[in-house]
Amino acid sequence: MNAPELLKALGWRYATKIFDPAKKIPADTWQALQQALILTPTSYDLQPYQFLVITDPATRAALLPHTWGQKQVVDCSHFVVFAAKTKTTEADVDKLIRHTVEIRKLPAAEALGAYRFMMLGDVVNGPRGKTAHEWATRQTYIALGNLMSCAAVLGVDACPMEGLVPAEYDKVLNLSGSGYATVVACALGYRSPDDKYAKLAKVRYDAKDLVRQI
Ligand SMILES: Cc1cc2nc3c(=O)[nH]c(=O)nc-3n(C[C@H](O)[C@H](O)[C@H](O)COP(=O)(O)O)c2cc1C
Repeated sequence: MNAPELLKALGWRYATKIFDPAKKIPADTWQALQQALILTPTSYDLQPYQFLVITDPATRAALLPHTWGQKQVVDCSHFVVFAAKTKTTEADVDKLIRHTVEIRKLPAAEALGAYRFMMLGDVVNGPRGKTAHEWATRQTYIALGNLMSCAAVLGVDACPMEGLVPAEYDKVLNLSGSGYATVVACALGYRSPDDKYAKLAKVRYDAKDLVRQI
């Protein structure tokens, strides 16, 4: 993909209000988008979230009244709820260390002792530990942005959705007490020809307002 093609895809995407309920994302395309979610970078690589991919119609119907009545939740092909960890623990740090040792075939977990110590002092016992859910929430938004851009590149429509009641989502999705809590969602699929929003011009400030060269 070259630069003009990238900008074309990003100009084509918009926050889809009406999905065509008959159009489903093909399995291979969805697998690529799911892998894009997994490949999202996070601070320290801690990945303090889960992505709940909701295709079950009954669950979606139960979420609709807690989504400000926005029909994207029931009409889209794949509905993803981003849940962030509510707390970061020493066990989370150790899990990452063990996984890193295994994947990178490092001699022993002790090889990462200094890194472990630094993480504990920050995300467990330090400033980011005190605001763990808020910090994890910020990481989920990186995943959301990544998903939306990748969807656009693959010609899949998406609507990022903060218009929901997280506490009610947690109840419907049995997240209460799980260590994860709902943050935001994203509906994905294909736009309906009736969605007049698709034709609206983009409203963005100029580079002179948003970009400063220093
Ligand atoms: C974090 C976030 C939450 C959003 N929540 C909603 C939502 O609940 N419902 C909706 O229709 N659009 C929602 N939007 C869409 C924005 O209104 C939209 O992205 C913005 O107006 C720019 O328009 P565009 O995405 O079509 O270019 C959300 C966007 C973001 C980034």
